[in-house]
Amino acid sequence: KKTVGFVGWRGMVGSVLLQRMIEKKDFKKINAIFFTTSQIGEKSPIIKDCNHTKLLQNAYDIDLLYSLDIIITCYGTEYTNLMYYKLRSIGWKGYWIDAASELRMIQESCIVLDPINLKEINKSIDSGIKTFVGANCTVSLMLMSLGGLFSANLIEWISVSTYQAASGAGAKHMLELLNQMNFISKNIDSDLENESMSILNIEKKITNLYKSKNFPKKYFKIPLLGNLIPWIDSIHNIGQTREEWKIQAETNKIISSNKKILIDGNCVRIATLRCHSQSFVIKLKQDISIIEVETILRNHNKWVSIIPNTAESSLKYLNPAYVSGTLFTPIGRIRKLNIGKKYLSAFTVGDQLLWGAAEPLRRILCILVK
Ligand code: HSE
Repeated sequence: KKTVGFVGWRGMVGSVLLQRMIEKKDFKKINAIFFTTSQIGEKSPIIKDCNHTKLLQNAYDIDLLYSLDIIITCYGTEYTNLMYYKLRSIGWKGYWIDAASELRMIQESCIVLDPINLKEINKSIDSGIKTFVGANCTVSLMLMSLGGLFSANLIEWISVSTYQAASGAGAKHMLELLNQMNFISKNIDSDLENESMSILNIEKKITNLYKSKNFPKKYFKIPLLGNLIPWIDSIHNIGQTREEWKIQAETNKIISSNKKILIDGNCVRIATLRCHSQSFVIKLKQDISIIEVETILRNHNKWVSIIPNTAESSLKYLNPAYVSGTLFTPIGRIRKLNIGKKYLSAFTVGDQLLWGAAEPLRRILCILVK
């Protein structure tokens, strides 16, 4: 059995990864060592049917890391930058599996999303690639839902608008959103009971509460509750954010396309908890019927599901609250746009922590320990 070191397993993505590995009984397949950057010597989590160390080990212990077959990190960029090159420079030949974006675009890495690029993954393993990185969440969720059209090579370009959950920004941000809810709710509680209070007065009160110096906004900088933020991550180039840049760059690396598929759009943070949604305008290479589009999408993988373009189904199945905590990647609102016969509209929702982060890592780990 291979020995796998877990770093950053306590964070949000790491916890979802562990949970999924327990559900799928993956720990049976490996020996595990749990690492920490701050609580060395404290107790490891207890995982049934898994041979693992009892105490947490030092995540900066280069000799111990060097002895591992596989390191899987959900710790973030800081750890990757500090340890990855150090280990490689002293000749470590193990597999490095990473959730952070840092290594995605380097030549020696493969971005993993096996329902989309299993062939590429296998080719990479055979050619000696040792670094496997999960894609940005919007990229994985887009590919899981539109996989059929990508693999049939039917896409000329995509313009996307995202509706990204607080979880994508991290646990502290997610907590801040809940604190914003709490702050507003505490302040308007009695007004909601008071029948003589008009809705416009309550709205005015909320808008004023946003300006209060006690309003929790350390991480998001502004209210996310009852609001949105049309900017995610830092600037990349000429007005495009890094989040927006990643979509085309990572997608084309994943599908290893000969001719680059052009993708761009606006990435927007909204006040959902852990599901990202995306609205696509797709320019198809051919005018194919909606029924054909749906069949191609449906047949691509077992997680995508086609939601009929009706009010009832869209409301019921195509929303973040419904999809949260599942591996289901529904796609709906599929129709041709007035703009022309090759212009398709579609809307998808997916769990940002599952297919968007932990699940592709869990699956590459399974491939590597087989
Ligand atoms: N960059 C994403 C977000 C996180 O901010 O929502 C998923 O990789």
